[in-house]
Amino acid sequence: MRVVVSIGGSVLAPELDPDRVVAYADALERLSAEGCEPAAVVGGGGVAREYITTARTLGANEVELDELGIGATRLNARLLIAALGETAVPAPTTGYDDATAAIRRGALPVMGGMAPGQTTDAVAAALAESVDADLLVFATGADGVYDVDPNEHADATRFDSLSPAELVDVVVPMSRDAGSSAPVDLLAAKLVDRAGIRSVVLDGDDPAAVVDAILHGDHTGTNVIPADSTPPAAWTEER
Ligand code: UTP
Repeated sequence: MRVVVSIGGSVLAPELDPDRVVAYADALERLSAEGCEPAAVVGGGGVAREYITTARTLGANEVELDELGIGATRLNARLLIAALGETAVPAPTTGYDDATAAIRRGALPVMGGMAPGQTTDAVAAALAESVDADLLVFATGADGVYDVDPNEHADATRFDSLSPAELVDVVVPMSRDAGSSAPVDLLAAKLVDRAGIRSVVLDGDDPAAVVDAILHGDHTGTNVIPADSTPPAAWTEER
């Protein structure tokens, strides 16, 4: 099974804790050992936010701020690459074709940000389409997709599953304000919808739980299931 794992920066390195990065590297290596072909995309987390906040005070424009954010995501990607060692491509992969080529030769590509105006969620969705992934997993700080922002509505309800088009509909109103509360960004949701990519949105706090979600489909997050899609073969074979 070919799988793209989008790892939020605040999930990978909340405190720049090396044990946490190693736990994610171990999780990706376990996926490879189980016969999967993983690729990873890493977010910028608190480091990106701190740089962006400071540079905004200095008068940087939004594109300049995004470029800083992209730099932070690639720093985090290098942390994960350091923990993966020989398993990984030695520098953050900066092209979707390059990522495909890496997977074909048995290496694990790690990407960060790619272009201003989006987040690494969109990179992960584009990568999943580009490498023809069987599954895209968003390992985030949110434990799934809710009908409304759970931080603002006590009665918010989490979806066990929804279609890609429904994901877009849920994310649109959450994406209007700065500091979006959306569990994945709007462009990512649109790419998932356009390409019909089977996806999972789950809490990335426990890398071992992310592995279970990928290998067995067992998780407490939200499945995004395109029409006419079948579960990854590995999930159905064992049932
Ligand atoms: P993230 O993907 O980490 O965004 O990129 P985020 O949603 O703020 O992070 P999490 O999910 O809470 O950890 C950090 C920043 O880098 C820039 C954007 O400014 C983004 O907010 N970025 C990232 C881009 O401009 N383009 C990209 O492709 C990726």
